[in-house]
Amino acid sequence: MELVGKKSSHTGNELNSKTTQFNEMNKLAVKAFSKRILCSGDLESKLARPVNEEKSDRGTSFDLEGGTLPARNSEIRFSSVESKIPKPHQLDDPDMRASCLARFAHHELMAVELLAWALIRWPKAPLGLRQDWYEILADEQKHCRLYLERLDAHGLSLGDFELNPYFWRQAPRISKSPRGVCAFLSALGLTLEQANLDFTIIYGEAFENSGDLESSEVFKIVHRDEIRHVASASRWLKALSGEKKEVDRYKNSVPFPLSAARAKAKRFESAPRRAAGLEESFISFVKNSRSTQESLRR
Ligand SMILES: [Fe+2]
Ligand SMILES: [Fe+2]
Repeated sequence: MELVGKKSSHTGNELNSKTTQFNEMNKLAVKAFSKRILCSGDLESKLARPVNEEKSDRGTSFDLEGGTLPARNSEIRFSSVESKIPKPHQLDDPDMRASCLARFAHHELMAVELLAWALIRWPKAPLGLRQDWYEILADEQKHCRLYLERLDAHGLSLGDFELNPYFWRQAPRISKSPRGVCAFLSALGLTLEQANLDFTIIYGEAFENSGDLESSEVFKIVHRDEIRHVASASRWLKALSGEKKEVDRYKNSVPFPLSAARAKAKRFESAPRRAAGLEESFISFVKNSRSTQESLRR
């Protein structure tokens, strides 16, 4: 049973007016917009906002069970090569900075695609949640553009790098999870985006130390938005799942191989997690979690 039918506990004028606004949008237009992101291979189509009278039938389909990858043209095609992100202390080297910016830009692009996928995959999710996804998707498009502008300032583009579909590899398990929407919220919002709360601070500081203040500023913008994204996932998981404690909600929803050990960087920052409204016991749980491999090594 998919956990999408329960009523949200959200109230308040602000959310109501937002919901009304989203409600007024043509449902087909949201679907068409999402489908365009998934079925167009070019970067511009994936990063463009919805246009009036966008049609849903593009003559293409997408495997919603998550067995396929979104369309990518040759310039931004996926690669099976797994490269390591440069270390913060390596960023005095402009090539390392560029490699790092490409990695973060690609994460944003995959977040755009995954949110588009979620909008099509769960048409009956609560309107307020779909509204959040729609707005967060716009943030992710903005973040991707900001990183790409900095990459361009280094004389390179996304196509110059290996683009690993790591986020997308999680989609089949999310899609097939009996926890439905809750699996998606735990995977994207409370694992990958939660980890980014640490990474954006670490790399924002590293870029600042390297003297690249413009890039550092981009990391700060993304960090601020990411707190809202994590907060949204946390609120909706609470509203839609049955467990009382956030730790249990997360543990019962997060799809393997994702886990709390992936929801953080080596340097753990509690403050942004508190700002996102995560429960203290959940923050401690993530802080103290170790991957299976790590546990075996010790
Ligand atoms: Fe983002
Ligand atoms: Fe995000």
